[in-house]
Amino acid sequence: MKIIHVIGARPNFMKAAPVARALSSYRDLNQQIVHTGQHYDVNMSDVFFRELGIPEPDFNLQVGSGSHAQQTAAIMQRFEPLVLEQAPDLVLVYGDVNSTIAAALVCAKLGIRTGHVEAGLRSFDRGMPEEINRLLTDQVSDLLFTPSEDGNRNLEREGIAPEKIHLVGNVMIDTLIQMLPAAAQYQPNNLPDAYALVTLHRPSNVDDVQWLSTMLEMLTQISHEVPIIFPLHPRTRERLRGLERPTSNSRLQLCDPLPYLAFLALQQKATLVITDSGGIQEETTFLQVPCLTVRENTERPITISMGTNELVGREVTAIRSAVGRILSGGAKSGTVPPLWDGHAAERIARIITAGL
Ligand code: UD1
Repeated sequence: MKIIHVIGARPNFMKAAPVARALSSYRDLNQQIVHTGQHYDVNMSDVFFRELGIPEPDFNLQVGSGSHAQQTAAIMQRFEPLVLEQAPDLVLVYGDVNSTIAAALVCAKLGIRTGHVEAGLRSFDRGMPEEINRLLTDQVSDLLFTPSEDGNRNLEREGIAPEKIHLVGNVMIDTLIQMLPAAAQYQPNNLPDAYALVTLHRPSNVDDVQWLSTMLEMLTQISHEVPIIFPLHPRTRERLRGLERPTSNSRLQLCDPLPYLAFLALQQKATLVITDSGGIQEETTFLQVPCLTVRENTERPITISMGTNELVGREVTAIRSAVGRILSGGAKSGTVPPLWDGHAAERIARIITAGL
């Protein structure tokens, strides 16, 4: 059996790593990794391969950045001849980025079996590019691996045949559990006892310069109560150009994107996290660290119903008051969702190889 993993953007890497590892213990199974090149900076890509022990990609499509249509089309054009030549039995795609839908669509048209890891998540907000990618990828995939029960319900409601859907748990948490001992050893320099960790990169937050500038001002205010560490995604760094940045001795510390271990160590010890990322809502739920999500909705509702996540929307007063409540001991408590247990990738591997 031959399997191709298609990955391209930062959040794909920690999802594919445990699946590739779980599959490597099966005989008569050959795996290849295709990197689309959607993310290409060393600190957005290479560093994760090294830290997570992902084998070097067999192919790199080197598509780079562009509009959604340009990026998606470039991946499709470059992936089609490759997949035809390699003739895999199954292509695995991950998450909800442009690389995910591009590869899934190519395979669907060629009649190549496709598995979607992290299927079924829905924000019900079609203004989000990722929601379009999720809906379409799930419609054309043959195997749908969901992280939580809500994913199964969404897929069944959309008419997906139940036998295609497999509730396996959360592969991102597989990686987190595996890396936790190393993260616990990790000692970032000059780390304050209490601090907030911030990440913001969604177009809905950072492409609106007025709102981005309001948030920067808000974070400066919050940093008087608790110091802030804010690693900047390249999109956010770009948008901050031209806005007044905090001075180097400010308690609002901006830095480059961090490698996986350093970021996990910071999450684990944080007093609170403020984010608009999908994966970080899940990681903080597992770590039971309070998380404020600066969005109007989430495709990961289980992090709210069971976990430590709270939606605060684009509302300065709501964010300030939630931060105040957490700092004065009123953080929401949570529990870890079922099957977020470090074994999701093994379940996927068992399903894929059944009958081998
Ligand atoms: C993409 C995903 C998003 C995911 C995020 C994680 C889509 C639609 N979006 O958003 O779901 O949460 O990755 O990071 O697939 N850039 C660099 N270096 C890089 C990569 C990007 O400088 O290595 C800059 C470029 O200016 C680029 C911009 O970041 O135009 C945005 O990159 P892109 O891949 O289009 O989307 P992300 O915002 O990273």
